[in-house]
Order: sequence, then C-alpha cells, then structure tokens
Amino acid sequence: MINPRLTEFRAGATGDWVIRDIRPVLGPTLPPAHALTIKPGAEPGAEISATPAAWVLHGLPSNARYTEAEEKAALLAKQEGLGRPEATCAALLPIRKTAAWWDLPQDARRRVFEAQSHHTQIGLRYLPAIARRLYHCRDLSTAEPFDFLTWFEFRPEDEPAFDHLLAELRRSPEWTYVDREVDVRLVRI
Ligand code: HEM
Repeated sequence: MINPRLTEFRAGATGDWVIRDIRPVLGPTLPPAHALTIKPGAEPGAEISATPAAWVLHGLPSNARYTEAEEKAALLAKQEGLGRPEATCAALLPIRKTAAWWDLPQDARRRVFEAQSHHTQIGLRYLPAIARRLYHCRDLSTAEPFDFLTWFEFRPEDEPAFDHLLAELRRSPEWTYVDREVDVRLVRI
C-alpha cells in the first residue's frame, strides 16, 4: 500500500525546479542533475518517468519530536506556507546525523537541539521570509543515505539571510552530530 505522505525527490533532466547548484558540505555529495521533481504519494522503486534519474531521495513529513508548546505557538504565529508565488528560490539540504546522536536519549537530544544550539530560537528570527518543511527518512529503510530532507523556499532577495541562517546553525553544537550534508539550490521554473 502506498503511503500518501511518502514524498519522492527525483533529480534528472526535467522537473518543476531547476537545479542551480549542488554544493558539497560534509561527506559524499550528490551527482549533478538539471532539475528536480517533488512528488507526494510516491511508490518506492516505481519509475515515474522514462528518463533515468540522477538521484532519488524519499522522506516523510512527520510529527514534531522536540518542539514544546510555546515554541509551536511562536512558529505557527510567524511561519508562512510553501508555494508562495514570490518565493521562487529553494534549497534542499539532505542531512545525516551520527550514531552518537541516535544513541542519545530523547531528553539529551532535545538539550543539544534547543538548550545548547537554540535551533528553534535561531530559526524563528528568519520567519516568515523562509518557509520550510522537514522530511524524515531514517526509518524508511536501512539503505536511506540521509536521516532528514530539509526543504526551504524564499524570495531571491532573502537568499543572503538564508545563507546567514545556515552559517549560524552550522556553528552550533547540534552540527557536531552531522556527518553528511549536501546543499542543493534551486529556482522554480
Ligand atoms: C527557517 C528557519 C528554521 C526553523 C524555524 C526551524 C525549526 C525547526 C524545528 C522547530 C525543528 C524541530 C522539529 C521537531 O520538533 O521534531 C527543526 C528540526 C530540524 N531542522 Fe530546522 N528550522 C529552521 C531552519 C533549518 C535549516 C536551515 C536546517 C538545515 C540546515 C534545518 C534542519 C533541521 C533538521 C535536520 C531538523 C531535524 C533535527 C532532528 O530531528 O534531529 N532547520 N527545525
């Protein structure tokens, strides 16, 4: 049975978003490709196109793990949804965390994520300019190359702010647990 939330990110010759750049950040990068299609309700292994894919990643939007009530209210009050016509730029950042991260108990992970790294508090400062969606991949199969697919949409003039946000997060203790990261920049056709 197909999970309607299972989302496929297929990179190849054609797609809804043109890939401007694939920047290696940490660990192995992804092969070059011209465009990306994002398709919810994907069936793993099924071909949606006659054109071979350069790469295919899968993820599921899921429930929040670390967000507390006050943070949730602050996010809801400030965030914008995906698909804004003026947000013609996007970034896809597939991320994998280390075994040491996954070995931590839930409360210790929350401490690193927020008390030490201020992930939500930092992120909130960049809303509503940056719209985002987090996909989880770790539990889909042992063959998944990443634990998370993170997707962001913004106006071209907000790209410097997005780069600043990335720099802030990458300096945080949370990122010492990241062992693979790729930064894919795109524009809507
Ligand atoms: C735009 C501002 C941002 C906001 C408001 C934000 C907020 C959040 C929140 C609230 C969570 C926790 C979800 C939960 O409770 O499970 C989260 C998780 C996450 N975010 Fe962000 N974020 C932002 C930007 C970013 C960026 C730029 C990246 C990538 C470089 C990123 C990567 C992640 C990852 C990988 C997780 C999952 C962490 C884990 O479960 O271990 N976020 N974010």
